[in-house]
Amino acid sequence: MSIQSTNTSPASDLERLDRADVIHGFSALRAQATKDVLIMDSAQGMTVRDQLGREFLDAGAGLWCMNVGYGRQSIADAAAAQMQKMCYFHSFSNFSNEPMVRLSERLLRLAPGNMARVVYANSGSEANDTQIKLVRRYNNILGRTKKKTIIARMSSYHGSTVAAGSLTGLEMVHRTFDLPIPGIRHTLAPDYHRRPAGIDSPEAFSRYLADALNTLIEAEGPDTVAAFIAEPITGAGGVLMPPTGYFREIQKVLKHHDVLMIADEVITGFGRTGRWFASTDLGIEPDLVSVAKGLTSGYFPMSACLISPKVADVLYSDKSEDGMFAHGFTYSGHPVAAAVAHANLDILEQEDLPGNAAKVGDYLISKLRQRLGQHPLVGEIRGKGLLIGIELDADRASRRPFDNPHHAAGLLSRSCLEERLLVRGGHGRVVAALAPPLIATARDADEIAARLERAIERVARGLTASGAH
Ligand SMILES: Cc1ncc(COP(=O)(O)O)c(C=O)c1O
Repeated sequence: MSIQSTNTSPASDLERLDRADVIHGFSALRAQATKDVLIMDSAQGMTVRDQLGREFLDAGAGLWCMNVGYGRQSIADAAAAQMQKMCYFHSFSNFSNEPMVRLSERLLRLAPGNMARVVYANSGSEANDTQIKLVRRYNNILGRTKKKTIIARMSSYHGSTVAAGSLTGLEMVHRTFDLPIPGIRHTLAPDYHRRPAGIDSPEAFSRYLADALNTLIEAEGPDTVAAFIAEPITGAGGVLMPPTGYFREIQKVLKHHDVLMIADEVITGFGRTGRWFASTDLGIEPDLVSVAKGLTSGYFPMSACLISPKVADVLYSDKSEDGMFAHGFTYSGHPVAAAVAHANLDILEQEDLPGNAAKVGDYLISKLRQRLGQHPLVGEIRGKGLLIGIELDADRASRRPFDNPHHAAGLLSRSCLEERLLVRGGHGRVVAALAPPLIATARDADEIAARLERAIERVARGLTASGAH
């Protein structure tokens, strides 16, 4: 089966216009001239349909965001009602709106740890940019004007704006854009699958990673290091599970050097890992939390920074210039986004979708291990809840990666598309990342596992045909 469309297809005019007019995010510009354009047209539940009527099972929840599934009437109704009542007003200065105020109370109740304040933005990148500014302001108020460096991790993804893209630990995001900006450093990724030789337990690897962080902080000078940012479970970098004890060891180092902990829960928040927030499960005690994606399940853009009392108290202690917080966006705290978020949270709560993610996630992982665990190309199957990575290796026994991961990753993504299965990749590695909507049933899990197995068989044939294996 080919996913190639024909020139007589109804989508062909749109495809031509798309190629002529649009630069897609994270697309290879030259390849786009010849590559299929998939014009997605309608969606319901777990399924997205393109203009040619081809149906795709969305095991990637769009970009890891479609937590409640497509086509929820109650969310559309909430958006329409709010648009009719008051389609927009800003939240600068002392202007406010009811959906935003009530959402803030709700978020602080749901939040991991003890959070005191909310700052709104529109995307995960903007939330993480805002975190950098909050951290700078916090230390400026405390008079620690040198304490500004933020440490992120290699293989992490925190966004693609100038600042959040600098936090991101993927070379591709930095290359040609002159990133990272000064004041951002990267430490080792919690990549147990590609751990150095001689490390023989997750606990030992956690200590090794914490030592590396400590060494970096000491080399930089602890009085210059302000914060550490981490996804509880690395998403776009290939679904990397923190090894046992990782955050305990890391937080010992952070506390010792008085460095703030920022949990980037943009993917992991709102039920994805089987809990409302992954921080709770992984023993993370964040000072700041970034949320986006599952906050509105992608029905409307919205993100937020959640701020602990420790940071908020300092922010409110500022006596200079009336404590003017000169930051915000035209659409921060958008009333329609907030109304959508409420309707989305209602569904997550009423249908206990975090609970479903835990249950169906366990089932899906066990199915995948059963079907693919012994496959010669499958190096590791890992994850939590409905956030699962299947990593392919050139040699499973020695965990040897592919000589040309780009080629193998391309084959994998094409093969999944040919099986009409949408998955996410893992930048720079050969990973099928699964993050289906949290409404997935055991039958959906069976279907995902079956299609993925067939896709991996296609990859094996493709590698043999190309002489790469
Ligand atoms: C963990 C994490 N943080 C931040 C972002 C950036 O979010 P956005 O694309 O909305 O800017 C992403 C996006 O995938 C993400 O996965």
